[in-house]
Amino acid sequence: MLTIVPSSEIEKKQVEILIITVCEDADIHPSALLPELIHQARSLKEFKGADNEDIVFYAPSGVMAAQVMIIGLGKKDKLDGETLRKACGKAIKKCIQKEVSEALFVVPFIEALQKEPDVILEAMVEGALLGNYQFDQFKKPKHPSLLNISFAVPEDSVDHARLLSQKIKIICDGTLLAREWVTTPSNLKRPEQFARSLVQIAEKENLKTEVLDHTALEKQHFGALLAVAAGSDTNARMVIMEHNPGNTTQTIALVGKGVTFDSGGINLKPQGSLEDMKMDMAGAAVVAATMITAAKLNLPIRLIGVLPLVENMPSGSATRPGDIVKSFSGKTIEINNTDAEGRLILADALSYTIQTYKPDAVVDIATLTGACVVALGERIAGVFSFDDRMSDTLIASGLKTFERCWKMPLPEDHKELLKSEFADICNITGLKWGGAITAALFLSEFTENIRWMHIDIAGPAFVKKETAYCGIGGTGFGVRLLCDWIEKIVSLPCTPKTLSESL
Ligand code: BES
Ligand code: MN
Ligand code: ZN
Repeated sequence: MLTIVPSSEIEKKQVEILIITVCEDADIHPSALLPELIHQARSLKEFKGADNEDIVFYAPSGVMAAQVMIIGLGKKDKLDGETLRKACGKAIKKCIQKEVSEALFVVPFIEALQKEPDVILEAMVEGALLGNYQFDQFKKPKHPSLLNISFAVPEDSVDHARLLSQKIKIICDGTLLAREWVTTPSNLKRPEQFARSLVQIAEKENLKTEVLDHTALEKQHFGALLAVAAGSDTNARMVIMEHNPGNTTQTIALVGKGVTFDSGGINLKPQGSLEDMKMDMAGAAVVAATMITAAKLNLPIRLIGVLPLVENMPSGSATRPGDIVKSFSGKTIEINNTDAEGRLILADALSYTIQTYKPDAVVDIATLTGACVVALGERIAGVFSFDDRMSDTLIASGLKTFERCWKMPLPEDHKELLKSEFADICNITGLKWGGAITAALFLSEFTENIRWMHIDIAGPAFVKKETAYCGIGGTGFGVRLLCDWIEKIVSLPCTPKTLSESL
């Protein structure tokens, strides 16, 4: 449970643990009481208030809390949302280890961040809620997650803080849904089963859903998508979700790569590259979670979520390197590498989405290339678009949510590297370098010149080492990013019919 209490409760509340953030070089709490506790902490040699430091007092005087944890944020001038997010994530993880079931955070007043006063509470709630999550499908975690997290804010901002924190909770729940799906092993999320559970959850939120099964996909000539699914003994699915609040003339489509396991197919991946390939449906997880979140928030824009779900496996029926297929768009594709499968399912999904829904803009998100991880590392996503305004808005959302994106080029002349001797296009280049770019250029061939943006999350979708507010496994990277991006688009000044101009 998440609650907001007025700051008058700080001293009176019988809470298991009270958490106070402090800076190394400045006072960020106006209350008369806290300076005493803070002073007590500072007088200890081991605590300066530096980032990462913390100290716990048991049975502290002046408050009813059983324990007080004082956590350092470092220097005031360096403070930003991410420092707070991380500090609160780490504090909650410590609370989990201590087996406390409830915590009360004191929200500080940080003048430098007051230009956007919501940033402080937003970041703190995010860090705490995301840090409190543990994947527990198969074994009980060592220590349980907290049951109640509260935040104390000044009396006059309680109402606003309640509304804001409810919104943040909905967005964090979306992130956690995506984490849960990505961390779930591939044997329990094969396309048919995964499609069913997605639909079940989406319908609860009143999203309109549709599932194209194998017969429908064959009938409608999803040749590229079916070529990827051919080696698996579970059939492909395409799940479509629609959020339509009415009264809007604008439509944004989100397409997510949903490879529930990427073995590489006949171009089998080597050991070391296979183990984490349950995460290759992270794009689909992000899109589904964003759709569910958008429905819960009732965002005033029509959204279409399209999730092509397949398992990429080698077998006697698998697609062979060199095979040529006809895609949904009618273009023929020479599949020279069965491990470049994401672009194949996305090509068909993009064509279908554009033809069926004629959206004002389409965004795809995918764990598409190892090359993008080589280029940008594991923490930053690559963004590709011919439309700078669209990607600039996303990059701004990346800075706010700390789901960082970096603009990558789409050089037209590189398209010639995808030429095929026998078909309209080849799915790989045969060159070693620039793989994230050529993958994006391949996708661009299926976007019919409409506004399009591609986000490669191969790096940040999954972590093998826990971070301040994420455990090992899926990160949910993309949900907070896309929710913020959609909100930005909705609130950007635009005349009714020209959302596309505000992108
Ligand atoms: N799913 C992988 C990309 C990937 C790699 C995601 C590492 C997460 C971590 C994708 O399907 C793939 O195999 N891409 C190949 C493309 C190549 C065959 C042109 C790659 O990046 O090596
Ligand atoms: Mn692959
Ligand atoms: Zn893949």
